[in-house]
Amino acid sequence: MRHLLAIDDLGTDGIDDVLRLTDSFVEVSERSIPKVPALRGKTVVSLFYEDSTRTRLSFETAAKRLSADTMTFSVSTSSTKKGESLRDTVETIEAMGVDAIVIRHGSAGAPWNVARWGSSAVINAGDGWHEHPTQALLDSYTIRQHRGSLEGKRIAIVGDIKHSRVARSNIAAFTLQGAEVTLVAPRTLLPPNTDGWPVAISNDLDATLAKVDIVYLLRMQLERMTDALVPSLREYTARFGLTRRRADALGDDVLIMHPGPMNRGVEIAAEVADLPNAVIVDQVRNGVAVRMAVLYLLLGAGTEWGAEAVGTATSTGGDRG
Ligand code: CP
Repeated sequence: MRHLLAIDDLGTDGIDDVLRLTDSFVEVSERSIPKVPALRGKTVVSLFYEDSTRTRLSFETAAKRLSADTMTFSVSTSSTKKGESLRDTVETIEAMGVDAIVIRHGSAGAPWNVARWGSSAVINAGDGWHEHPTQALLDSYTIRQHRGSLEGKRIAIVGDIKHSRVARSNIAAFTLQGAEVTLVAPRTLLPPNTDGWPVAISNDLDATLAKVDIVYLLRMQLERMTDALVPSLREYTARFGLTRRRADALGDDVLIMHPGPMNRGVEIAAEVADLPNAVIVDQVRNGVAVRMAVLYLLLGAGTEWGAEAVGTATSTGGDRG
């Protein structure tokens, strides 16, 4: 694997490879000194043209735990403000000597252009409404951690599907692993054409919740809405929010997931996000180990010292605290 741009780059076997390797990096992350030398001498740059807390910090943490050097690009203090193009920015950064570019951009397809222009490994950290593959990997890992596998699991993805790259990557990842996915949303928050999507579609949340194993809530992306797509947020919450009443009607074994950031009180009631069966913090925690696995597969696999570092981590427990 040279780049990670979309879930289909991985396929079922690739997803399995990443998630198996993630187990080793979860173990590394639990050590008193959570660090291995696998990517010593490599440089990873975060090139984020959109805001992020989880993805950016977890990629930077993952790179540091693998002993890579990191560079952070901040749009607000960069020459982008003087009109420098994405291509010139990428070529400038590459001239300094980088091995991987982690890019988030508001335009769908931008990571594919970066992969074409440069020689670094490119990881898509979210492009427009299109894909967010590492989110789907960490979500898949979290479901496997709590439920063993995704095979045959019934998963409802609820909310703003239209604007959601998380939904697109998760539909691909979940169905490749054998889950049955139902999208629940008002017509205005679905893409105009879902022909060929391997999903069922409903606008009745209560009926869907009665027969799911996992409910995955999406953030209302108010910043991407140019039209009034719902009559009001209060009405949206009444029909499509995971309210306390709806959460109480779910079995305790139904996982509640959300990619973050949450609008507490809109798509999920404030207290529902903190229930024992809500695994939102686990999703964030697993994000670091999953991103370590992705960086390792792109930059470290095949190097003798890299294999040794991970081998040591799994076989001896290394310097466990
Ligand atoms: N889930 C997610 O991508 O969060 P951030 O926007 O904080 O990175």
